[in-house]
Order: sequence, then structure tokens, then C-alpha cells
Amino acid sequence: MDLKKIREELKKSSSPYKIIADFTYDWEYWISPDHSEFVYVSPSCKRITGYSAEEFIQNAGLFFEIIDPSYLDFVRKELNTPDCPWIFDYKIRTKDCLEKWVSHTFQNIYDANGNYLGRRGSIRDITERKNIELKLRQSEENLKDKTGELEELNRDLENSIQSEINRRRAKERMLIQQSKLASLGEMMGAIAHQWRQPLSTLSILVQGVAHRRRLNKLDDEYLNSFESESVRLMEFMSSTIDNFQNFFRKNKEKEFFDVCKAIENTISILSAQLESSFIKVRTEFPEKGCFVFGYRNEFMHVVMNIISNARNAILEKKPEEGFPGVIDVTVSVKEDFMLINFQDNGGGIDKNILDRIFEPFFTTGFYKKGTGIGLYMSKMIIEKDFSGTIDAVNNGNGALFRIKLKEMRNELKT
Ligand SMILES: Nc1ncnc2c1ncn2[C@@H]1O[C@H](COP(=O)(O)OP(=O)(O)O)[C@@H](O)[C@H]1O
Ligand SMILES: [Mg+2]
Repeated sequence: MDLKKIREELKKSSSPYKIIADFTYDWEYWISPDHSEFVYVSPSCKRITGYSAEEFIQNAGLFFEIIDPSYLDFVRKELNTPDCPWIFDYKIRTKDCLEKWVSHTFQNIYDANGNYLGRRGSIRDITERKNIELKLRQSEENLKDKTGELEELNRDLENSIQSEINRRRAKERMLIQQSKLASLGEMMGAIAHQWRQPLSTLSILVQGVAHRRRLNKLDDEYLNSFESESVRLMEFMSSTIDNFQNFFRKNKEKEFFDVCKAIENTISILSAQLESSFIKVRTEFPEKGCFVFGYRNEFMHVVMNIISNARNAILEKKPEEGFPGVIDVTVSVKEDFMLINFQDNGGGIDKNILDRIFEPFFTTGFYKKGTGIGLYMSKMIIEKDFSGTIDAVNNGNGALFRIKLKEMRNELKT
């Protein structure tokens, strides 16, 4: 069938179908079997392209002229696709030079006898949809960018928090070390006391040798006992120094240790000094000991702070000789926790300052060179290093300091 005939047929029929096609919203067309001419173009092409149906019928090439050049090859390729129906999107330029997006679908048509009648197509203006899609994609990309920025910000924040934490930890460690040095004076007093007795015993022994020598009574037996006794005393003095050195040495690593042993050790460092102040330290520990994981020296530092505070309170209350100062140290286990109590009979803590004693630099001992750092440090060590608690109350004739730590017996077994 030639084009003329087809056109005539179409005109003749003037069927309701043409009416429908004339009023479709999309741009409908029908091209000749040789694809060189439009058989029919619906008036709606004007709404989409600005060109009238007549213009397309006069000049079929106009169809390619309005395609955005960057899509021309693509459209030609798509139009050659044998598969039907086919659908593809591209950009066009309207008569008013506006850019529009269209969606193109086409289908080959045949008559009842299978003769090829050309191709019908339908072109839809999808500019709005494309714009929305574009905006959506842009905002998605924006969102991705923002999410990336946020993640980066988060990472930065985490890093700076971590480095701040590390900085603080390092600072705390340094403070703890400094506070140990601050108690050096106190410790020197303790060493002096620890050495006083063995030193005087040693001097008596030496005088004994000299005396015997003068009397010509220096036999082997006496010399031997002199030797072993002085070696024992000197070993004791040397071990005192070792104890002090260990105490001041910075703990490198956390370890499992028995708090009862650590308390005993601390008391033994202070024992001579406490004795000279007529202060008795009584201990009550569970037989199996009590284990925690942490810096042993720092725990000993806490014990030393509490005991020296108790000693100061006792000395302040009754400085005269013979006052029966007592410090009771008990360790007990309740469920998973161990309770470490230090009870003294030094008269207790003034009610008005009870809630301030753990503050840094709070001291009532100005004239006695109190630093006010001991309890503050003790609290830091117990809370930060041991995840425990420490508090103080007045009880009986004095103060009661209570430390609560999580016991770690199970971990030790494994
Ligand atoms: N066992 C105690 N009895 C009475 N008061 C105490 C006792 N322990 C601590 N305190 C009070 O808490 C204050 C703070 O103690 P601390 O932080 O060790 O600083 P410092 O011993 O240098 O004064 C002490 O000055 C004292 O008033
Ligand atoms: Mg103190």
C-alpha cells in the first residue's frame, strides 16, 4: 500500500480512532513503511515541540532536527531496534529553544494480511519527571556527601576524644607520681623510724665487741653470733630500703595481687613509725586473701594515705605518750565485692568538712604542712584504676574509711 492510499484510507474512515488520536495528550505518530514520511502526526506535538503537526508532515527530517545533538546517535540506534515495542528517553530542543526530556515508544504495524504498514509511535513529555529525578539524584549525592562529612567529623571527634582521654590519663598518672613524691617527706620519717632500732642495736653490738676486746674475752663463739646478728639487722635495713624503692617505683603494668598482702606490706613500711607513736594496727583478713587486678603500688599508696591520715588524727587528739591509738583494718568479702575498712580512734572528721575531704588541696593540716592531695589521689586511684568506690563516715571514736572493690578471684583461677 502506498502512502497516498494509506492517507486516503485514513481520511475516508475519519473514524472515531482518529478523533481519539487527535485528542491524545501524548504526541502520537505513524510513519510510512519506508520510514521517509509521516502518515499521521497528532496535534499534541505542538504542545511538546512547538512545531505543528503540519510542519512535521511537510518535513519529516524535522523529527531529527529537534533532537539534542548529544542524543542523535543514540536515538538513531534505538530506532533501528527490531524489538517492538521499544521505549527509550532522550532530550529535545523545542521551537522556543527550550530543553525537554521525552520518552519515546514505537511499534511496527501490519494489516490483516501481514503487510507492513509502517510504524506507530508515541512521544511523551517527561521533563518534569526527569527534573524531579535529577533533583532527587542531586540531593541523594548531597546526602551522601553530607553523610561522608558527618562520618569524617565523627571520626575526628572520636579521635580527639581518645587523645584527650589519653592526655588526661597521662596527666593523672603524673599527678599520682607527684603525690607520691609529695609524701616522700612523710616516708623519710618512716624510714628513719624503721632504721632507728636496728641501728641502735647494731651500735650496741659493736660496742659489745670493743668491750670484749678490751677485756680480752673475744672468742670465736661471740664473734660468730656478732656476725650473724649484725648481718640479720643489716639485711632488715636493706629490705626496708627495697620496700621504699618499690613503693616509689612506677608500676609498669597492671597485675593480679592480693590486697591483704599489699596492706600488710604498707603497714610494715610504716610499722616502726606507728609503734613510736604508740599506735597499734590490727588486721583482720580472709584466709585465702582477696585478689584484684590493677597497679599494686598505687593501691599501696592509697593504704598509706589513709593510715597516715589516721595517725595524724590520733596524734592530734592525744599527743601525750601512751595514748592507745588503734587502727583496725579489715577486709571482708560480700558476694562479688570486697570491703576494705580502716577504722581509727582519732576522734573523727568534723561534720562540716566531711563532704569536702576528697576534694583536691582540701586540708585542715596547714600548720603541719598538710597538702590536701592524699585523699583526692586515693579517690582517683580507687575509682579510675580499680573501678571501685571510697567514702568516709564517722564511726565510734573516730573515722571509718571504706573502700569497695570488685573481687576477681575467678579470673585469677583461669
Ligand atoms: N582519719 C581521719 N580522721 C580525721 N580527719 C581526717 C582523717 N583522714 C582525713 N581527714 C581529714 O581530711 C583532710 C584531707 O586529707 P588529705 O587529703 O589526706 O590531706 P592532708 O592529709 O594533706 O591534710 C585532712 O586534712 C583531715 O582534715
Ligand atoms: Mg593525708
